[in-house]
Amino acid sequence: MKATPYRRGFASDNNAGIHPDVLNAIFDANSGHTRAYGDDTYTESAVNKFKAHFGNDIEVYFVYNGTGANVLGINAATDSYHAVICANTAHIHVDECGAPERFTGCKLLAVSTPDGKLSVDGIKPHMHGFGVEHHAQPKVVSITQATELGTVYRPEEIAELSKFVHENGMLLHMDGARLANAAVFLDSELRAITKDVGVDVLSFGGTKNGIMVGEAVVFFNRKLARNFKYLRKQGMQLASKMRFISVQFDALLSNDLWRKNAAHSNRMAKRLSREVKKLPGIRITQPVEANGIFIKVPQDKISVMQSERFFYVWNEETSEVRWMTSFDTTEEDILSFVDFLKKNLT
Ligand SMILES: Cc1ncc(COP(=O)(O)O)c(C=O)c1O
Repeated sequence: MKATPYRRGFASDNNAGIHPDVLNAIFDANSGHTRAYGDDTYTESAVNKFKAHFGNDIEVYFVYNGTGANVLGINAATDSYHAVICANTAHIHVDECGAPERFTGCKLLAVSTPDGKLSVDGIKPHMHGFGVEHHAQPKVVSITQATELGTVYRPEEIAELSKFVHENGMLLHMDGARLANAAVFLDSELRAITKDVGVDVLSFGGTKNGIMVGEAVVFFNRKLARNFKYLRKQGMQLASKMRFISVQFDALLSNDLWRKNAAHSNRMAKRLSREVKKLPGIRITQPVEANGIFIKVPQDKISVMQSERFFYVWNEETSEVRWMTSFDTTEEDILSFVDFLKKNLT
């Protein structure tokens, strides 16, 4: 049966399909037998691609999804009596169904931020109770790059956070579900906004940037990886047919595909934001730095807009919606949506 093609919308970069280069890599890997659970040359090659970006002194583990990467990365850095400080918009706080708390035992301490970014001043109010047995012990600060609000930490902001975190005997976790989009926005290499500015453990995203399934946990602080192979298995994130996750990362990190996909996606977000800025009743609420646009739109127009190109409401109360672009968004998608808005917003 041939499926009816779905129309591309602006709901999420997760709603996009698989980049053809990644799909081809999966096809190519689909011959013969190879050892399971990552003991294969495909996985070795993919890990080497990570090392080419980040240096040889790292540990890389592939997992099924972003929630698994976050939960296990944090698990490796904590004990159950620890606390993790994050933004109140963080995926680990609002979109993982309490998995971090359940699997790590840690308390999440959420900081309210205007733009999804943590700062030293923002986390200071949670920095107390050290050594007090009644108090969950702050151990990890978790930041998201690019943030859930489409904003991007500058390298110096991350460096300042990591300095503070390390001076206080804590660790820095980064949810890099959209790290590629952030790197492109900053015109930076991947390691310049992670390892080089003091990140200890990174969830490296692939799904939102053209792969089918899989994320990677990358340890820059290798001591944290000591028991990770056990944690990954216990955490049900060890893929037996690992080669099919690995080859996707191999493809993504080859020929700059990660950069091309993210650059396209970011460009489309900018284009969309430029077009809609001129429309009546629309207000962009966050700087458009990666591939997400946050906009206040007239409440009574939301459902008609969604029927044209699907997207999610971010905040019902404030009538704020989120439009995301992806590696396969086209100019035509944008122009036809803008055209529709022009006709339907007045
Ligand atoms: C910031 C962020 N982190 C992590 C994830 C990963 O989630 P999942 O477990 O669905 O792969 C997402 C997905 O939407 C995300 O937006």
